[in-house]
Amino acid sequence: MKRIITYGTFDLLHYGHINLLRRAKQQGDYLIVALSTDEFNLRSKNKVCYFEYEKRKALLEAIRYVDLVIPEENWEQKSEDVVRYHVDTFAIGDDWQGQFDFLKEFCDVVYLPRTPEISTTQIKTELRK
Ligand code: CTP
Repeated sequence: MKRIITYGTFDLLHYGHINLLRRAKQQGDYLIVALSTDEFNLRSKNKVCYFEYEKRKALLEAIRYVDLVIPEENWEQKSEDVVRYHVDTFAIGDDWQGQFDFLKEFCDVVYLPRTPEISTTQIKTELRK
């Protein structure tokens, strides 16, 4: 069985996220989503989520492409996760192009093209108008 892992906040889940998860799952058989915790989002990404962690987790778990959701609590955990969960492929949107190449020591690394013209930030901005 081929295992894939991806990381992200996935707040206000939108079709760009679904496209990403579908293509990540197509890389193999079992998709793990490491979901940024509220604390990590605030501390390291300066993001305040609309939906708290447990709600974002429940939404992801309802998606057929997603097999397991684990917490992302810091930037450093990735190589440890890859080893612990026997991951074959790390997949993420190409807004992160090149930034996780250090994981190639442990698994394949794939950057998937972002879906144009949609993001959580954009939704929040539009709704504020
Ligand atoms: N993603 C994507 N296409 C989009 C938006 C996101 O492929 N239009 C991917 C990202 O590249 C990442 C994953 O979805 O691999 C989770 O991204 P996240 O940062 O949670 O979503 P964004 O909508 O980009 O949120 P924000 O605007 O807060 O950065």
